[in-house]
Amino acid sequence: MTNQTIRSAAADLFPGGVNSPVRSYRSVGGDPIPIARGEGPYVYDAEGTRYIDYVGGFGPAILGHAHPAVTTAIAEAAASGLAFGALGPREIELAAAIRDATGLERLRFLNSGTEATMTAIRIARAATQRDLIVKFDGCYHGHSDGLLVRAGSGVATLGLSDSAGVPQAVAGLTAVLPYNDPAALIRWFEAHPGQTAAVIVESIPANVGLLAPDPEFLQTLQSLTRADGALLIADEIITGFRLRRGLSGVLPHAQLVTLGKIIGGGLPIGAIGGPAPLLGLLAPEGPVYQAGTFSANPAVMAAGAATLDQLTPAAYERLEQVARHLENGLLTAIRRAEAPASVARFGSMLSLFFRPTPPRDYAEARQSDTAAFARFHRAMRQRGILIPPSQFETWFVSLAHNEPQIDATVQAAAQALREAIPA
Ligand SMILES: Cc1ncc(COP(=O)(O)O)c(C=O)c1O
Repeated sequence: MTNQTIRSAAADLFPGGVNSPVRSYRSVGGDPIPIARGEGPYVYDAEGTRYIDYVGGFGPAILGHAHPAVTTAIAEAAASGLAFGALGPREIELAAAIRDATGLERLRFLNSGTEATMTAIRIARAATQRDLIVKFDGCYHGHSDGLLVRAGSGVATLGLSDSAGVPQAVAGLTAVLPYNDPAALIRWFEAHPGQTAAVIVESIPANVGLLAPDPEFLQTLQSLTRADGALLIADEIITGFRLRRGLSGVLPHAQLVTLGKIIGGGLPIGAIGGPAPLLGLLAPEGPVYQAGTFSANPAVMAAGAATLDQLTPAAYERLEQVARHLENGLLTAIRRAEAPASVARFGSMLSLFFRPTPPRDYAEARQSDTAAFARFHRAMRQRGILIPPSQFETWFVSLAHNEPQIDATVQAAAQALREAIPA
């Protein structure tokens, strides 16, 4: 099949020609590139054209694509049978690795990040006997009804402030506050004392490009939730095992943590972690219902465990080194091109914003020149570099990237910046 036959068939089969909105390239224009395979830092389209990949599957591919340790583990698990609907040994192995690295006392595995945050909210409501949820403008926590309110990511890309089909009665239980604004939090808790079940936040917001958390904001968030009796849910679905082996460390006082992406090694996963009394609210131990045919699927567990095996402290040092090389190269290219652009980076996550300084919040992120980003994206892909198809998605560097590939990326970016910003 050629790229075009895939796109034509997909246009006929799938709404918008895709199975997840950002893949449509609507915010950058041009034809989406169908990816047929990946290996290490590269992905290949259906016609064999090779790209250096920074999409990284939107987060999971920290080892690069098709790492032999992961594919072997999946093959071995698959050869033993794929769906038993029963307890098994592989979930013990992955859970033990996660517990060792994070200190999370108990865990539940689910099939996606969306399920993890949705269920964490349900636990929080049951634990507190309260209904209200607070989230932050631009933070994305998956597509459950109550959390699809002023989210970032694909929602930001498509300019939807909300989704159709979410009843007002549900959306109305979610308050959205500006990120990095301690005063807004103080006002919220003064106006609604004892009513908030949970505040959910991405430990480092990475669905509006990247936002740097302000220490005072983090402090206020942790102290006010504790004082009010609201639970703090740290969404570490992107950041968990991305910055170091374990949690990001940004919100050490969060009571519930959601994980996903990397811990599934490229297969579908979500997880909730926290103290035994809170996790014990889940069925069958407690009254909060949650279940899944595919939960803790053996192949997923095997892929996750094989991935975590590779994530040594040295691996994170290497990631930092390569990602810093990319950041420095991009900053030099921006300076030389005199482009009104900036770079935000945490470890192996990076965003190039088409605005002169990295944003502090979603309102500032939205001031980025998305038309310039679209031109940049097109110029990069013409040069064999694949970055996420939205100004509001984060680039991911993997352990498979090396300096020559980064240098090639920077060289392409130097030219692409000139095409993106007309003189
Ligand atoms: C921070 C965060 N939370 C939750 C989710 C939802 O995860 P999933 O797409 O696996 O449902 C995402 C997905 O990108 C995410 O970035």
